[in-house]
Amino acid sequence: MKTVAFAVVGVRNFAQSHIRTIKKLEEEGIGRLQAVVVRDQEGRQDGSAQLLQELGEQGVVLFDSYEQLLQEGQGLVDLITLPVAVHTHYDLAKQGMEAGYSLVLEKPPVPTVQQVDDLICLEQQTGQFCSVGFQMIHSPSLRKLKEEVCAGRLGELKEITCRGYWPRDRAYYSRNGWAGRAVVDGMLVLDGPIHNALAHYLNNMIFMSGPALDTSADLRWIRAELYRSRPFITSDDTSCLEAETTAGTRLYFYVTHSPRSQFDPVMEVVGTKGTATWNYEGECEIETQDGTERFDNGGVDPWFEVMRVSAKVRRGELARPYSTLANSRSFVVAINGAYDSARYIRPIPQEFVESTLSGPKECAVVKDIDELLDQACAHRKLLSDLGVPWAVSTPRIDLQDYKEFSPFSQPRTFVELGG
Ligand SMILES: NC(=O)c1ccc[n+]([C@@H]2O[C@H](COP(=O)([O-])OP(=O)(O)OC[C@H]3O[C@@H](n4cnc5c(N)ncnc54)[C@H](OP(=O)(O)O)[C@@H]3O)[C@@H](O)[C@H]2O)c1
Repeated sequence: MKTVAFAVVGVRNFAQSHIRTIKKLEEEGIGRLQAVVVRDQEGRQDGSAQLLQELGEQGVVLFDSYEQLLQEGQGLVDLITLPVAVHTHYDLAKQGMEAGYSLVLEKPPVPTVQQVDDLICLEQQTGQFCSVGFQMIHSPSLRKLKEEVCAGRLGELKEITCRGYWPRDRAYYSRNGWAGRAVVDGMLVLDGPIHNALAHYLNNMIFMSGPALDTSADLRWIRAELYRSRPFITSDDTSCLEAETTAGTRLYFYVTHSPRSQFDPVMEVVGTKGTATWNYEGECEIETQDGTERFDNGGVDPWFEVMRVSAKVRRGELARPYSTLANSRSFVVAINGAYDSARYIRPIPQEFVESTLSGPKECAVVKDIDELLDQACAHRKLLSDLGVPWAVSTPRIDLQDYKEFSPFSQPRTFVELGG
C-alpha cells in the first residue's frame, strides 16, 4: 500500500512532537506528513512561525481550520492526529470519524465514560479507528511483561502499585488556557496528574491486569483522594487512589506535581508466583522462583510506535491499534470514579507548601510529600489512612456497570471553582 498521509491538528506544544515523529516515519517509508492545521497563520506570536515556514517549504499543506481539513483533506489525508486540548477531544474526534477519517487521539481520550462509549459506537458505525496516544502501551517491554502475566508466569495477580513524582513549574501551567483546570468554558478537563501527565501509568496498571494482551481490566470499585497545593489551579496536583479489578487485583497509584525531587514512575506487579518491576525507561525485571529476568525496549521508541502502529493499521497490516478507545475505557471509568470518590479537590493548607524558584520556573513543594507517598505505597494505604493532617478520607465508589459521570448535576467544589 501507499505511504499513509498524516495530518496533524495544531503546531504548538505536543503537536510539535507529533510533527517530528511523523517526519521520522517518512524514513521508514510507511507514513508521511501531508498536512497541518494552523489557525491564525499570519499573526502567530508563539514561536511557531519558523516551523510553519519550514513546513510550507517542505510541501506540507497548511489548512486554516479543522473544518477545512475535513472537507479538503478527502482523498489527500489518510489519518488525522489530534494533539489538542483535552476538553475538545470528544467533539474533534466525533467530527473526524463522522467525516470519514481514522484518528490518533491524544491521551487522555475523553473526560467522561459516556463520551468514550459514544466514540466506541462511532468507530463501529463509521468503520474508522481511533487510536489513543497512550504511548506506554506501545512499549515493547510493557507488552512483553503483559504476555508473561497472561501466560501465568507471575501466577494470579494480587496487586499492582505505581508511584511517580514529576515537578511541574509555572510555565507548565501557563502554556495554555486549560492546564491545571478542572473545567474550561463549562466543559470538563480534569487536568491533573492522574488524568494527564501521569495518566499513562494508571492506564498501564489497568492494562496489565486485563485478561488478554490487548484488553484492560474491568474495575469493581475505586477510592481516591485529590488535592491541590497550588492556589492558582482548580484541578488536583497531588493524588492517590486504590481500586480493585473484577478479577480481584488491587491497584495502588500515587502521583504528585509538587515533590521535593523528581521520581520517574515505577510500577510493581505482584503475583502469587513472582513479582515484576517496570519503569519509565522501559526497563523490566521479573523475579520468580526460577530466577531473575531483565529486558527493556531494545531501543524502540514508544512515542514513535504510536504513529507506526497506527500507520500499519491504516495500511491493513495490523488488525487494530495497540491503544484503543475500548482498552482505555476502564481508565476513563477510573478517573470518573476517582472524582466521584474524592468529590472535592481539597486545597492543601499553605503552611504545608513551600514555593521554590520564581517566575516561570516557580514550583510548589508539599512538605514531606515524597516520603508520605512512598510510605503510603509501601503500606498500600491512602494519605488519609496515614493520618496526614490535611488529608481527608473518601468513600469507595462502585464501578460495576458504571455508565455516566455527571458532576454538574451534583455541584461540587471543583466545578464551582473551575468555570
Ligand atoms: N502522549 C503524551 O505523552 C503527551 C504529552 C503532552 C501532551 N499530550 C496531550 O496532547 C494534547 C495537547 O496538549 P498540549 O499541551 O500540546 O495542548 P495545547 O497547548 O492546548 O496545544 C494544542 C495545539 O492544538 C491546536 N488546536 C487545538 N484545537 C484546534 C483546532 N480546532 N484547530 C486547529 N488547531 C487546534 C492549538 O492551536 P493554537 O496554537 O491555535 O492554539 C495548539 O497548537 C493533550 O491531549 C495532552 O494531554 C500527550
